[in-house]
Amino acid sequence: MINKYNILKFSLEKEHIIIKWEDNHESKFHFLWLRDNCPTSFHSDSKMRKFNLLSVSKNIYPKKIDNNENNLRIHWNENDHISNYELKWLRDHCYTEINNHKYKTPYILWKSNLNKEFKLISLNHDEVINKKEKLIQWLELLHVYGITIIKNAPTKDKSAFKILNKISHHRETFFGTPFEVINIPKPNNQAYTADALTNHSDLPYFEYAPGYQFLHCLENTANGGDSTAVDGFAVADYLRKNEKEMFDILASTQVKFKDNDFTQKAIRILYSPIITLTKDNDFNDIRLNMGAMATIDVHPNKMKKFYDAYRFFTSLLHDKKFMIEFRLDAGDIFCFNNRRVLHGRSAFNPNSGNRHLQGYYIERDEIISRLNYFNNIQV
Ligand code: OGA
Ligand code: ZN
Repeated sequence: MINKYNILKFSLEKEHIIIKWEDNHESKFHFLWLRDNCPTSFHSDSKMRKFNLLSVSKNIYPKKIDNNENNLRIHWNENDHISNYELKWLRDHCYTEINNHKYKTPYILWKSNLNKEFKLISLNHDEVINKKEKLIQWLELLHVYGITIIKNAPTKDKSAFKILNKISHHRETFFGTPFEVINIPKPNNQAYTADALTNHSDLPYFEYAPGYQFLHCLENTANGGDSTAVDGFAVADYLRKNEKEMFDILASTQVKFKDNDFTQKAIRILYSPIITLTKDNDFNDIRLNMGAMATIDVHPNKMKKFYDAYRFFTSLLHDKKFMIEFRLDAGDIFCFNNRRVLHGRSAFNPNSGNRHLQGYYIERDEIISRLNYFNNIQV
């Protein structure tokens, strides 16, 4: 049986060594990279690198290399240092191989079809609290679909902290935690009215807009106030495939977002594109909120095309083909990736009953790093 962790042969080149493995894969390992990643470089408890890269020269090289069963041993020409690498570790960190892999998105994009598959993204509150596998399932759904509904949560004040804290700490903002989504006189945010809200991302004027939002429904007896959500990545994907020029405009135009509400002794201004991408050209952020858009000041030669693209993208974000519509019941927690899934609601009649949601934010880092932990990802 071929063991990909066994070395067939290795050779010493000018700046790196080449290892040929039993499965015929060839890895390059550069000298400085090897020295930097010597197992002795890391503190045994903190696991942080205590090795100082500046303590060796840039020309460091192996004087001697031995390969015994499970290890590669390098005698360095500097500081009499010897490094012992486990072959499994070396192969698993082979950056020739890592860079040959085609990027695969973790996201499953969805459209209005999710309306019929609501069960798929619904989880029971107590099960997530009590069963580790349900907690992991919740995190995976959040990461992959960007949306879940937690059912049968308690409806007591602040009670969603319990499930949020199964992940980590919350993200604080000037709205407080939780923030009270109710119809109030003199509202400092559109959400605190009985008006309809078009699909939007929250707090787009923060350099780092909150990663996830949890809206916990305590009461919903008023007429109206139904919820909407749309997968901004799915809509952006459609735009990239069908209207590439518009997509490029939204991915490159710096749009001005702002908050200057009367409760704040701060004026928040942020320029950002509406769509941003990752190093792999996957989707990173969708940032869109008609209410929090400042007066746009793009160059006059670009304004017409910008508005055409912005309007078209916004129309898709409200297209029944893409959107889902549902009603939150008391005890539901609507959880979504705030930098992917845009959310909204229809207007409600505050004289017909009560509508009260409590809102929380938590970072994307917290979801992903907890998933990495449960999946025992090695770094
Ligand atoms: C919000 C919001 C939606 C709702 O508070 O950010 O968008 O259903 N609320 O009230
Ligand atoms: Zn909102």
